Amino acid sequence: MKNTVTTLRNQKREKNKITMLTCYDYSTAKLIEEAGIETVLVGDSLGQVVLGYENTISVTMEDMIHHAAAVSRGLQNTFLIVDMPFMSYQTSDYDALINAGRLMKEGHANAVKLEGGVTRKSTIKAIVDAGIPVCAHIGLTPQSVHAMGGFKVAGKTEEAAHRLIEDAKAVEEAGAFMVVLECVPAKLAEYITGMLSIPTIGIGSGAACDGQVLVYQDMLGMFDDFSPKFVKHFSDIGKQMKNAFIEYSKEVKEGAFPTEAHIYQIKDEVLEKIY
Ligand code: KIV
Repeated sequence: MKNTVTTLRNQKREKNKITMLTCYDYSTAKLIEEAGIETVLVGDSLGQVVLGYENTISVTMEDMIHHAAAVSRGLQNTFLIVDMPFMSYQTSDYDALINAGRLMKEGHANAVKLEGGVTRKSTIKAIVDAGIPVCAHIGLTPQSVHAMGGFKVAGKTEEAAHRLIEDAKAVEEAGAFMVVLECVPAKLAEYITGMLSIPTIGIGSGAACDGQVLVYQDMLGMFDDFSPKFVKHFSDIGKQMKNAFIEYSKEVKEGAFPTEAHIYQIKDEVLEKIY
């Protein structure tokens, strides 16, 4: 069954937790699809885990479209959300609309995601009014890393908690179909989840959210440039990959690979004509 904004909304009502993973390429998308994960996010975390940047600031529309289109070719039933990169929507609602349209038309997204609450209300409304579903992202918003003075837990003081609640209300009122809560204290995320009719997707925000998202390289132990507290390693694929690379190198150097099983034959009579 194809996951849609309607099935995702129903999952909240039925208290059926929503699963989401990030993805940036075709072959991983196929594995995620086969695992039955309901939503995939082509996140601008692409900047760090795939492109090797320090943060998400340098990620471009072209980067997002390129990777989103590849992911879309690996998905059938999984709902595909694509991040709007830094400065693709902050400049004007017009720019936001054009760029959201490109992510849908060229990246084959089913929805777009953008960061911000109260300040992005008119942008979300403009995109939604054009028939494009919007997933909002509040709490720790990595595109504002310089304004925040680093990656910090959001909503810890009374004033910050009130601001976050206002952000959550604003994105729902603007028409967002879903909201990501990043690094929000668990009790506050639980309160916001109960307050909203749209699903909340938590990352570092506790188990009461309507669903969870993780960066797939983080949960597979493939990326250790930094490891936030909220990450759980569900496997140690990074170590397995490194061991396989070491084994490959050893076998090539020793002449143990390739063997008869990995080569193509040529008939002796053909060879005789060449030598
Ligand atoms: O870019 C991303 O991967 C994200 C998730 C961490 C929610 O925005």
